[in-house]
Amino acid sequence: MHFFRSHITTLVLASVVMFSCRNNKQEPPTPVQAKTKDAAVWQAPDTSTIPHSPEGDMIRYGRELIAHTATYLGPKGSIRQQTNGMNCQNCHLDAGTKPWGNNYSGVYSTYPRFRARSGSMETMVKRVNDCLSRSLNGKPLDSTGREMKAILAYMQWLGRDVPKGKTPAGSGIKKLAYLNRAADPQKGKQVYETKCQRCHGADGQGIMQPDQSMYVYPPLWGPHSYNTAAGLYRLSSFAGYAKDNMPFGINYQSAELKDEEAWDVAAFVNSQPRPVVHFVKDWPVIASKPIDHPFGPYADTFSQQQHKYGPFGPIQQEQKLNIH
Ligand code: HEC
Ligand code: HEC
Repeated sequence: MHFFRSHITTLVLASVVMFSCRNNKQEPPTPVQAKTKDAAVWQAPDTSTIPHSPEGDMIRYGRELIAHTATYLGPKGSIRQQTNGMNCQNCHLDAGTKPWGNNYSGVYSTYPRFRARSGSMETMVKRVNDCLSRSLNGKPLDSTGREMKAILAYMQWLGRDVPKGKTPAGSGIKKLAYLNRAADPQKGKQVYETKCQRCHGADGQGIMQPDQSMYVYPPLWGPHSYNTAAGLYRLSSFAGYAKDNMPFGINYQSAELKDEEAWDVAAFVNSQPRPVVHFVKDWPVIASKPIDHPFGPYADTFSQQQHKYGPFGPIQQEQKLNIH
């Protein structure tokens, strides 16, 4: 396997390569750069418009940090070793530009903003560091350091055409309708085996580049995955992300999973072991927890099990009755 000797840095190329040797029957994923023609959803500014100036260099460095976080901050990072080895881009696809791919279009326009999880006004710095300590199960970045400044410069550039206070269509993760039943990890296991395992691995631990510096296919559970305080540990976030973005190569216009499959595979993946981290200051107002927050205490009498897997309809119904 001669190509393993060359340093493969782009995931797209790497996926194609891995595909051709792991499973001959499988088509390589469509390049993620393929642009959707839907004028209604936000499109990122063209990277060729990043200025050739010191500010432009910071924007480019920020984009690079999002796309190849592990190179700089991972276990073998060149700057500091402070994360689990995932890239921001693993979850914020195409460097945080993909419609309904958890993009950053609404970040610069809406921060600082109040967030219920902390019960306080949050800056962009705090929000970036939240993902570092939860999704990347690592340490926060110094707010005055070059890396944080570059990430913020990139997010500001991305959101430059978005009016203050607005969240564009296609931002973040699309919420799916709730199922009438609880999401089922057993059914999700079958979805995983037929539609996910070929890339993320039978053990869910993902696959590293041969030089072990970065994931080609990131882990979905296990010690190097996102921790239990991360956004994807909530079923609605995972299901919405998976529906519009997985198997890798699809987008919201070419989704392959049925809603049911997305919920079930979310239940399966989020019932597997992963780093357990609790931030004691989270959710100071218990009643503000999202319906699918998987840890009590709750302001209602539904079980932790039901808050994690559903059915969510009855919880939602009771919450509506309590708001007068
Ligand atoms: C394991 C997946 C994962 C990884 C890796 C990850 N994030 Fe996130 N991030 C999320 C999820 C989930 C959300 C919440 C999305 C939602 O609720 O719509 C989020 C939200 C955010 C937001 C707020 C977006 C908004 O519109 O309010 C920012 C900013 C952010 N992440 C930055 C980062 C940065 C920077 C990195 C890398 C250092 C990173 N994230 C890595 C999953 C991840
Ligand atoms: C063709 C290979 C492939 C298949 C099949 C696939 N994925 Fe992925 N998945 C990826 C790649 C590659 C990434 C990272 C994308 C990036 O960094 O640009 C990813 C990222 C993810 C992430 C966010 C990062 C993380 O590790 O937590 C989740 C969640 C995920 N996939 C779930 C699924 C689910 C669920 C399925 C099955 C329905 C699936 N994937 C099928 C290749 C694949």
